Amino acid sequence: MILPQLPLTDIHRHLDGNIRASTILDLGRAFNCGLPANDIESLRPHVQVMSNEPDLVSFLQKLDWGVKVLGDLEACRRVAYENIEDALRAGIDYTELRFSPGYMAMTHQLPIPGVVEAVIDGVQAGCRDFGISAKLIGIMSRTFGEHACEQELAGILAHRDQIVAIDLAGDELGFPGDRFLTHFQRARDAGLHITVHAGEAAGPESIWQAIQQLGAERIGHGVKAVQDPALMDYLAEHGIGIESCLTSNIQTSTVADLAQHPLKKFLQHGVMASLNTDDPAVQGIELAHEYEVAAPAAGLAAAEIRQAQENGLYMAFLSVDEKRALK
Ligand code: ADE
Ligand code: ZN
Repeated sequence: MILPQLPLTDIHRHLDGNIRASTILDLGRAFNCGLPANDIESLRPHVQVMSNEPDLVSFLQKLDWGVKVLGDLEACRRVAYENIEDALRAGIDYTELRFSPGYMAMTHQLPIPGVVEAVIDGVQAGCRDFGISAKLIGIMSRTFGEHACEQELAGILAHRDQIVAIDLAGDELGFPGDRFLTHFQRARDAGLHITVHAGEAAGPESIWQAIQQLGAERIGHGVKAVQDPALMDYLAEHGIGIESCLTSNIQTSTVADLAQHPLKKFLQHGVMASLNTDDPAVQGIELAHEYEVAAPAAGLAAAEIRQAQENGLYMAFLSVDEKRALK
C-alpha cells in the first residue's frame, strides 16, 4: 500500500522508456518513420512487453521505436513534458527521470546537447504546469560503446547545472563497467552524483566494480548482490541504495518470478532499497502496480513496503531542505 502521508518517489524511471504509444504513432506519422503498424493496438506489441522477454537485450529492443520517432528537438521536448504529466497521473510527488541523449538523437542525427536542452526544457515546463518535482539523470548507453558514451557525456556536461547524476545503462554483459573508467572520472570531477545499472544481467562483480571503480552511490537493480554475502554487508554498512524495479526484473528474465526476488532479503539485511518502475510505458505498468501487486507478490509485508517508500525519499539525490519541502 502507498502511504499518502509520505512523499511518493520514482527514482529509477527512464524518460525514453516511457513514451506513450499514442505519441509514437503520432510522431511516427509526422516524421514518416515507417512504423510497423497504423493503430495503437497493432503498434502495442512492437513497443510494449507483452510476455516476459528472454533477456535484457531483447527487452531493451522494445524501447527502440520510442526513440526512432524523435524527428526533431520539439519531439524530444514533447516526450519530456508528457513524462511529467504521466508522473502526476501516477501519483508521484518526486521523480528522477533518466534519459540517454545519444540514443534519443541517434536515428535522426539530432545534436546531442540540443536533445539535452530540449529534455530539460520539457521537464521544467511540465513541472511548472503539473506541480510536481523532478530531477534529471543523464545516461551513457554502454550498448553503443565508449566513443558514443563520450559524446553523450559531453552533451550532458554542457548542461551540467540542470543534471543531478550520471548513469550507465544498456547491455551490461556485452559492455562491462571497466570500459568507462575515464567517463566516470570526468563525471565525478564535474560533481555529479553516480548511479549505475549493475547486477542486473551480470553478477555481483559488476556491482563491486560500479562501486569501487566507477564511484556508484546507488545501484540500479542490483539483483545479483544477493549471491555475495560480503557485498550485502558492504551495501548495508555503506548505505549504497538499491533502486529495485520488480516487474522489470521479471520481464527481462533477470529473476524467474516475484516470489524469488531478493528485495525482501535486501530489506531484512538492512540494505537500503526502494520501489521504482524502470520503463513504465514499455512495461505496461505504473508505480502503483509495484506497490500494490508486485511488492506483496515478492513477499514484502506492509511494514517493508513502507520502509521501501521511506527509502525512496532517503536515497533521492535531493538536499535535506529539498526533501523537507516535498510534503
Ligand atoms: N535501459 C532501459 N531500461 C533498462 C534496464 N532495465 N537495464 C539497462 N538499461 C536499461
Ligand atoms: Zn533502468
